[in-house]
Amino acid sequence: MNKRPRDDHSSFASAPKRQYGAGGGYGAQQGYSEERNSARRVADHYSARSNQTLEERENSPIIHLKKLNNWIKSVLIQLYARPGDCVLDLACGKGGDLIKWDKAKVGYYVGVDIAEGSIKDCMTRYNGDTDQQRRKKFSFPARLICTDCYEARLDEYLYEDAPFDICSCQFALHYSWSTEARARQALANVSALLRPGGIFIGTMPDANVIIKRLRESEGLEFGNSVYWISFGEEYAEKKFPASRPFGIKYKFHLEDAVDCPEWVVPFHLFKLLAEEYDLELVLMKNFHEFVHEYLQKPEFTELMRRLGALGDGRQDQSTLSQDEWEVSYLYLAFVLRKRGQPPAQRRANNANRGKMFLTEGDIEVLGI
Ligand SMILES: C[S@@+](CC[C@H](N)C(=O)[O-])C[C@H]1O[C@@H](n2cnc3c(N)ncnc32)[C@H](O)[C@@H]1O
Repeated sequence: MNKRPRDDHSSFASAPKRQYGAGGGYGAQQGYSEERNSARRVADHYSARSNQTLEERENSPIIHLKKLNNWIKSVLIQLYARPGDCVLDLACGKGGDLIKWDKAKVGYYVGVDIAEGSIKDCMTRYNGDTDQQRRKKFSFPARLICTDCYEARLDEYLYEDAPFDICSCQFALHYSWSTEARARQALANVSALLRPGGIFIGTMPDANVIIKRLRESEGLEFGNSVYWISFGEEYAEKKFPASRPFGIKYKFHLEDAVDCPEWVVPFHLFKLLAEEYDLELVLMKNFHEFVHEYLQKPEFTELMRRLGALGDGRQDQSTLSQDEWEVSYLYLAFVLRKRGQPPAQRRANNANRGKMFLTEGDIEVLGI
């Protein structure tokens, strides 16, 4: 990988306009290293997850949930991406959405992730080298960056690539909510890099559902056969004052997918914070509502049938289990739009950016 030197601008978030809560802000030096450790734990967890073979994937206890999640991400991409778009994929993971972007005929792709192992897998997938994926080349040039995208000044690092038409952060924005500084840097990066009128799409845990489930449970833990969530003793009273909305940590375990700390993102505060960064809410739907609504649309019904999340539409008994459907209720999808009038003309030189084949040396490691 290509290590970039740390520069004067690459360390921390720009000064917050308004502090929401105690403990999570800039002054919290003790919290600072603790948060770095947490971010590292998350990165190590995802880095260690190797690429599955097609057979392993099909045998996963949450295979239908994975397919449902892919359907939701595909719907979001099909609704909001346009041919030729420049895409910024924050926390891109192993590049699981590359094919979706290709189908949307985007013009340029920048993927960023903290996990070295995942970004290398993303490179392999982009090059069309994996067995289970197709060997066909993607039609857009790409650039891959390994960094903590909630601490790094991506707004400065990617300045020359901006503006992006669309930014995506799938199943990962909640990792920014460990401190106010990180949550702000995430939004500052998105806002600075999107063009006016540009779109920010994402998926993350639905805090309302998580807190409701916690309060319904007897102890501090709840779940079913495929997941569990566990809160620490500090939340024994199950109270979450609005004055301390950051750093509400819980442990999340999802069979064959996740096993690391996560943070509650109170959505009404996320919306307010995003507005400070000129990002206006367009849509927010819990996954259940999302599925019910978009499954009515013929083009997405057909996509669901092809993906097979709800069975293959024939006699096949295999379909999403009740426990998987319960997990999907823990998530929401959101769409934000950057304020302002879209420029009359879009940037046209996509082909000169990124590369059509990436080696490990092309993966940029951005120090923070
Ligand atoms: C559940 S996976 C989702 C991956 C991908 N977005 C997808 O939908 O397939 C969460 C991803 O977030 C990444 N991540 C977590 N914290 C991050 C951070 N601070 N900066 C960049 N990536 C991060 C992890 O490495 C992991 O790849």
